[in-house]
Amino acid sequence: MDEKIVIAHRGASGYLPEHTIESKAMAYAMNVDFIEQDLVLSKDNVPIVIHDIYLDDVTDVATKFPNRKRKDGRFYVIDFTFNELKTLQVLERFNPKTGKQVYRKRYPKGKGNFKLHSFQEEIELIQGLNISTGKNIGIYPEIKAPEFHQKEGKQLTEIVLKILSDYGYKTQKDNCILQCFDAKELERIRVTLKSELFLVQLIEFTEETKNLKHFATYADGIGPWYKQILDKKVNGKWTFTSLVSNAHKLGLKVHPYTFRADALEEFSTFDEMMQTLLIEANVDGAFTDFPDKVLSFLQK
Ligand code: G3P
Ligand code: CA
Repeated sequence: MDEKIVIAHRGASGYLPEHTIESKAMAYAMNVDFIEQDLVLSKDNVPIVIHDIYLDDVTDVATKFPNRKRKDGRFYVIDFTFNELKTLQVLERFNPKTGKQVYRKRYPKGKGNFKLHSFQEEIELIQGLNISTGKNIGIYPEIKAPEFHQKEGKQLTEIVLKILSDYGYKTQKDNCILQCFDAKELERIRVTLKSELFLVQLIEFTEETKNLKHFATYADGIGPWYKQILDKKVNGKWTFTSLVSNAHKLGLKVHPYTFRADALEEFSTFDEMMQTLLIEANVDGAFTDFPDKVLSFLQK
């Protein structure tokens, strides 16, 4: 894995509702290196490809099952069977309080007919396309909220590892990168569950970057928030924190999230973001909602 990799973040989610099978097929056709799956268990232990433990900001659950919310007002994936989840319509991400879609210029909320799907269904799509096209595009699953699943009496990690093994993803050579924000859980995956997969430690909070040496004892890479790589802008040029160079010294790959052409924040253009992080900061890959744009930048 020496070249910079492009990871379709929740699929080609800049163009189609996130984590739909359609957004995965679109990302596949763009020739990305990896397609991401965030994983949450259903009531009957089926890993569902969805970003949150909640359903109400990407589906019509509040209309279809108005009486199934918890005391906090949220609808949880884990309270619904796979068959029930299949009846929901997936919508472009929106704020459940206002009903307004989060990224205004993306796919219009409520149009089309998109459904939730299982991890196995997505693996079969990608492996099927790998056979029919002759390509070898990888998967990049994430174990979501392991502590929440444990409290609910669920073994998300064990279920995901078994599925990965059943579909032939067992070692670093098998074109699968497994990621998790929870450091204890990722370490458990390596040390206790003896996984030989390529493991990426996601980093949410900047203080966690102090633990890099420890991460290197069980992980092969890190997935930081891109802002943890940026230091300050001097005369129009970004300077960088030591995160990428320290990680590289420890042999860790660096795959920051999330490259969004329609939410630039620190940057004036998407080209500036890609040039700054992929070239000047020398990261090893990017999670992006716009894989076609990152691929075309890297080809240049
Ligand atoms: O998993 C890395 C990337 O996806 C960023 O995290 O919150 O979008 O799952 P999130
Ligand atoms: Ca993710």
